Amino acid sequence: MKASTSIWLPLVVSLFFSTQAFSDDKQPTPEERAYEFRHSIFETFAWKMGQLVGAKMKNDAAGFKKHATDLEYLASMLEEGFQIENSIPEGSIAKPEIWDDFSKFEEKANGLRTAAGSLTKDGAMDSFNPRDFGSKNCGGCHRDFKVKD
Ligand code: HEC
Repeated sequence: MKASTSIWLPLVVSLFFSTQAFSDDKQPTPEERAYEFRHSIFETFAWKMGQLVGAKMKNDAAGFKKHATDLEYLASMLEEGFQIENSIPEGSIAKPEIWDDFSKFEEKANGLRTAAGSLTKDGAMDSFNPRDFGSKNCGGCHRDFKVKD
């Protein structure tokens, strides 16, 4: 038992360190992490928009309210993904204008939060028009701050 440990332990330790070294090379940069974070937030926005449409189609007011509340909450994290100035790593379609005029960018984010908040009100489902909502509150920011894809 003792003999085999003394043989294997250094090997295991060296394997551990070489794996560490390897994965350190592969660590995403802070810019890449920020991009991954905001990209997943945006994906959840798109998902929640789909859920809102689905709830309206089923005339499910409680479900609609829940998804609107989720969207408002998720939107509260929007700027968190843009804290590193000019973080436009590979894959990102963010425009540098975001950091040239961050207060305008924040205004658009606030617009989405307010709009999502108003969807949580009783009766909001009836007048919800996904195309108008998306064009104003999502597209309104994309037109200025996201590269057209
Ligand atoms: C305050 C600005 C802002 C608002 C509001 C906003 N987005 Fe975006 N969105 C962006 C930016 C900037 C990117 C690009 C981020 C990147 O690639 O680094 C983006 C990227 C995306 C992406 C991934 C890239 C793509 O084009 O497929 C999706 C999906 C998306 N947004 C959906 C939405 C939806 C749905 C809403 C509304 C519910 C919304 N966004 C509201 C700024 C915004």
